[in-house]
Amino acid sequence: AWATPARPADAVVIGSGVAGLTAALRARAHGLRVVLLTKDTLGEGSTRWAQGGIAAALDLADSPAQHLRDTLVAGAGLCDREAVEALAAEGPAAVRRLIAAGAEFDRDPDSGELLLTREGGHLRRRIIHAGGDATGAEVSRALLAALAADPDVEIIEHALALDLLTDASGRAAGVTLHVMGEGEHDGVGAVHARAVVLATGGLGQVFAATTNPDVSTGDGLALALRAGAHLADLEFVQFHPTVLYLGPEARGRQPLISEAVRGEGAHLVDRDGVRFMTDRHPLGELAPRDIVAKGIMSRMLETGADCAYLDARHFGAEMWEHRFPTILAACRAHGIDPVTDLIPVTPAAHHLSGGIRTDRRGRTTVPGLYACGEAACTGVHGANRLASNSLLEGLVFAERIADDVAERIAAGELPETAPAPFGPDPTMPSPLQPLLPDGARDTLQRAMSAGAGVVRTERSLAEAAAILAGLAAEPSKRAEPSQETWENANLHLVARALVEAARVRRETRGCHWREDHPERDDAQGRRRLLLTLDEAGA
Ligand code: FAD
Ligand code: SIN
Repeated sequence: AWATPARPADAVVIGSGVAGLTAALRARAHGLRVVLLTKDTLGEGSTRWAQGGIAAALDLADSPAQHLRDTLVAGAGLCDREAVEALAAEGPAAVRRLIAAGAEFDRDPDSGELLLTREGGHLRRRIIHAGGDATGAEVSRALLAALAADPDVEIIEHALALDLLTDASGRAAGVTLHVMGEGEHDGVGAVHARAVVLATGGLGQVFAATTNPDVSTGDGLALALRAGAHLADLEFVQFHPTVLYLGPEARGRQPLISEAVRGEGAHLVDRDGVRFMTDRHPLGELAPRDIVAKGIMSRMLETGADCAYLDARHFGAEMWEHRFPTILAACRAHGIDPVTDLIPVTPAAHHLSGGIRTDRRGRTTVPGLYACGEAACTGVHGANRLASNSLLEGLVFAERIADDVAERIAAGELPETAPAPFGPDPTMPSPLQPLLPDGARDTLQRAMSAGAGVVRTERSLAEAAAILAGLAAEPSKRAEPSQETWENANLHLVARALVEAARVRRETRGCHWREDHPERDDAQGRRRLLLTLDEAGA
């Protein structure tokens, strides 16, 4: 087993996407001792795949107040207004700090001004981008370079965080982890810390087809639930409307066709070439994401088609090559040339608006445990995230967490304490939550896509719940500890929680579409659903 360092860190940050890296760097700027864990290599996560950009009111014709309004409209009555105010107001400065840290965004070659694009639900041009459509790769590159310049952050790659350690008073005191690398760190061990920051990203891998990478298995959410923290808004999974359609059996991470392609003027058409969004919403193809995803699904159901199409042939080869090189290459790799062909698209799981409930300083309901980025539910996204607000959320709220930890340490509120000893077996999530073998993941993902995907009913959700319950009940499905089986256990727990939340919300709101309750119902729906481990059915 890996020996625990003698001195606790001030903060252990779990995850190396935009949220974890920002939290670590800001904590270092406060002079804190930081350990950063990541379960794959440093560059893995959703962040590096982000395409469209980062939203912030940087233009003179724009304002944080307008960004606030657009975010609240997309959030369909469930945003935490003060959290959105913080996001919109602090966003421009957070972006400028990112630029100062070395991130390079696309600029007008003549004026040198940042280029700003539009995406769904934004009434202003406010989205900066890098490399045309490779924004996340640049954000990741810049933050990782800044981290590499600081020799005092202890980084452990291939370290799967397992469960929270607490002290005798119930305050977070570190995490258990399984390191699958080589050398001195190999094995099961623990990192002790005064504060634990979960920046573990989303749960797209709960579904059969997703834009998310393999690491997005909801680990932080499951860890938080097991530790007694509350999750919120878990029913609000955003399905990106335009994901490259690669056939009904396509599984795992699918190539995204950025909303910015529509922002720059691409049209959505059905298989007969008819535009169908223009008469469904005043913003047409640039309506908020849930409305476009529903528009596509409805059209597919009406016409019996497997997908819709994006028509951006009028961009021409030069614009495709300069503005969307990543997407162009991904399409061509699959035999589709957007310069001459329609692009087949369908909605796929993309982003979790809900997550681990936090306050505006990123504190969860467990003392000393923080969450930021896609793993967190700060309340900024409500029932439907506005495009390009999540990289910004990762920046703004990760900084707030580091500031809070530093202030509390200075005030003596986070003293070093000894964690209570490990449970009976740290290699198991809990006696009640089994590890699940490989085959279980496939069954789980299919059940979730069929029962809790874009369109849901009580019946479809009940069917998904029954399959999930069956997976846990079958003793033959139990497995030995490994990254795979731990991820499966986490996927299973968050899938159960998601289905439970989706069953309780008997209305249609934002990206939660209940075919059997098709209207928004403010009488019951204008409140946030909180989930604990018991309510998740575990
Ligand atoms: P991630 O970047 O996903 O990082 C999570 C990290 O946690 C990873 O390093 C992972 O390995 C690690 N981890 C997970 N579990 C464990 C564990 N148990 N132990 C240790 N480490 C663990 N948003 C925008 O705002 N603009 C966009 O243009 C945009 N485009 C997108 C395009 C795609 C294809 C995708 C998938 C998402 C896009 N998003 C976009 C959403 C955005 O990228 C994510 O919401 C955001 O990057 C999440 O950042 P994060 O730091 O919270 O998580
Ligand atoms: C995209 O480029 O369409 C993704 C933007 C986002 O998810 O915010």
